[in-house]
Amino acid sequence: MKTELFNNVATVDADLLVLFVPSEGELPAATAQWDEKLNGQILALREQAVFKASVAQTLLLPSTDAAQPAVLLVGTGKDALSDMKLKKVVGAIGSQIKGLPYANVALAASGLAVNERGSDNVNTLLAQWLNESFYEFKGFKQDDAEKTTKVETLLIEGDNEAAVKVGAATAAGSAFTRQLGNLPGNVCTPSYLASQAQQLGEEYGIEIELLDETKMDELGMHCLLSVGRGSDQPSYLIVMHYRGGKEDEAPHVLLGKGITFDTGGISLKPGAKMDEMKYDMCGSASVFGTMKAICELKPALNFTAVIAAAENMPSGRATKPGDIVKTMSGKTVEVLNTDAEGRLVLCDALTYIERFKPQSVVDIATLTGACIVALGSVNSGMYANKQDVADALKAASKEAADKLWQMPLDEEYQQQLDSNFADIANIGGPEAGSVTAACFLSRFTESYPWAHLDIAGTAWAGGATKGASGRPVGLLTQYLLAKAN
Ligand code: BES
Ligand code: MN
Ligand code: ZN
Repeated sequence: MKTELFNNVATVDADLLVLFVPSEGELPAATAQWDEKLNGQILALREQAVFKASVAQTLLLPSTDAAQPAVLLVGTGKDALSDMKLKKVVGAIGSQIKGLPYANVALAASGLAVNERGSDNVNTLLAQWLNESFYEFKGFKQDDAEKTTKVETLLIEGDNEAAVKVGAATAAGSAFTRQLGNLPGNVCTPSYLASQAQQLGEEYGIEIELLDETKMDELGMHCLLSVGRGSDQPSYLIVMHYRGGKEDEAPHVLLGKGITFDTGGISLKPGAKMDEMKYDMCGSASVFGTMKAICELKPALNFTAVIAAAENMPSGRATKPGDIVKTMSGKTVEVLNTDAEGRLVLCDALTYIERFKPQSVVDIATLTGACIVALGSVNSGMYANKQDVADALKAASKEAADKLWQMPLDEEYQQQLDSNFADIANIGGPEAGSVTAACFLSRFTESYPWAHLDIAGTAWAGGATKGASGRPVGLLTQYLLAKAN
């Protein structure tokens, strides 16, 4: 799908024109202009309460003249929209136009007023969310072909090309993230993730390094390797280098948890909803998606993506509760619970990353059920060892309307990780589980500015609309773009 700009509803070449209608007061200029053309029909529909224009309400006015586009009226209520309402409005447009036979759809975006957002920023979100609304999981159902939308071009009213480009690239990234997340565990294995990196390398000319188990063993990454020990699938550390900045400029690094299936290992998870643990690689999927968005946008910065990929299975070779493993950093870990495996793969990756002398490191992980208890599916949990990194992520989060909430990393919590037998235990007891998981990671990030995003609650939805969300690709893309400016 193409996303382009236009500047006048009177002259735009479209099959469908989307116009915004508030529930009270004057119509926005573009809508008023079209209302005149329709002899006051839009205002009449609103006055007669046929179309009340409540938030996200839609009404299609088919075209009776081949030279004129059909019109989709979209209600915006009486006040400026919040981000949540904007998302509802865009969702309503997406689900309306997806099934319609129109190839060129134009949105009169100047008719949208969103709290605390300028028109360029609104256009980025429009381009992103509309493109995202066309995502379909394909590859496994016989009726896949019928899911293809007729929409070929989205035209958005505005004059800032870059704004819609960022939105469209973010959507391309998030579609990749969702596809990887939704793939079943028997397809999306650690070696599948490695092959996806190689494919990105070929497509965009970025450098890819794959560290296999032999290489990781040589490097002393025994903690990472302890997680995949029970699996027949080999583990990988995957590294991708996007080089858009100066040669000697230190990179920003994103690290993703890539547990392609988390059974819990010997500390086996209960059966209910265990299938959802195919989503335990969503952190890495968001790093892949962000890499794609960045490769499309080509900003001037150096960005290294690292994926710690393994499958967590029980078997006769699996790591057992009480086993002690040595990390690449030299610290030993008592594995009291094999289901706290994310931190075990991430800690060695975090040590490996030291060699890049990074400007900043952000890891993204579906790390703890406790984070879902704390924040639900609205905010990702964020932890940082430098407030600068936290603030940059908060700014990116605001820009991308991709929420996060900063959580504490006080020294007091660190004691929960004391072990009688090793340098650190891998769990901190029943209290503050998301915090102690972050504390564990913080022990391996002392040499650089670092933040951790716990996306356990935000990476996918369960229930009837089960599926990967594509979060936090929007926030990560904005974070990196801001580093380039
Ligand atoms: N991948 C899970 C966390 C998770 C659970 C994410 C449910 C989303 C939904 C992680 O590996 C895990 O199992 N964490 C344990 C840690 C505990 C053993 C300290 C958890 O949260 O229960
Ligand atoms: Mn687990
Ligand atoms: Zn896990």
